[in-house]
Amino acid sequence: MQCSNTTPHHRKKQIVKLLVLGSTGATGRLLTALAVGRGHDVRTLVRDGSRADLVPGTEVVEGDARSREDVTAALAGVDATASTLGMGLKTRPNGLLIDAVDALIAGAAITGSDRLIMLSSWGVGDTLRRSSLLVRLTYMPGKKVHDEKAEAEAALRTSGLNWTLVYPVALTNGEATGRVRARDLDDVARMPGSPSISRADVAASMITIIEDDLWSRRTVVLDQQPRRRTDGDGPGDSPSPSR
Ligand SMILES: NC(=O)c1ccc[n+]([C@@H]2O[C@H](COP(=O)([O-])OP(=O)(O)OC[C@H]3O[C@@H](n4cnc5c(N)ncnc54)[C@H](OP(=O)(O)O)[C@@H]3O)[C@@H](O)[C@H]2O)c1
Repeated sequence: MQCSNTTPHHRKKQIVKLLVLGSTGATGRLLTALAVGRGHDVRTLVRDGSRADLVPGTEVVEGDARSREDVTAALAGVDATASTLGMGLKTRPNGLLIDAVDALIAGAAITGSDRLIMLSSWGVGDTLRRSSLLVRLTYMPGKKVHDEKAEAEAALRTSGLNWTLVYPVALTNGEATGRVRARDLDDVARMPGSPSISRADVAASMITIIEDDLWSRRTVVLDQQPRRRTDGDGPGDSPSPSR
């Protein structure tokens, strides 16, 4: 994968004070562990701080991502926020992302912490019509949740925050491969077939976006880099988005 010319990967990474929303979820747990492992100073906002499965090495703040008060308190002193919030397999929208985006915008106005990398999904907004028939049918039950995400994202895009929206294709629990293709949403006219990408690759890409401050005020689509005949079996390069 190509790396940015302006952010060479041999430079030492700055330690980031990072807030994670959704750190107890399937992707959030991976992202949180990776951020801790890379030496970042990680705070997590969790609904139940007594859970036994919290990622060690983080500062745990108890609260609700839908609460302006809780989010504002958690944002204090933070350089960047990564959101991997989700509703699991629920297909009835509950306002989660609308409330969370509202709380993040309100919190940024008070704390000045305005960098937000938010995990969303291919299939949101008009991306669904760019998909294959199979994917359009598969995503049908989640359409109302995706519509609500689109509404929250519209508010984010006009908020003045330094946002990045991350649109992965279908998520799997597979290993990190490092073979991630990152493209601007505007450059993806069609998404053929029924592609997937591992949560581990998505989590690593989100960390790279934070560390290298990539894709500011843009929506980035993540899928698996197509294999070339010359590729070996080992993990590929770092999953740096191409811009
Ligand atoms: N499945 C796919 O193929 C796919 C594809 C592309 C994108 N996505 C999107 O990727 C995102 C992450 O998916 P995932 O499967 O990793 O998520 P997940 O396992 O469902 O985790 C969701 C996280 O959000 C937290 N959360 C929910 N409501 C909260 C609230 N009010 N306050 C604080 N935390 C709250 C949960 O906390 P608790 O532990 O307290 O519940 C959990 O940590 C989702 O938005 C999903 O739609 C999914």
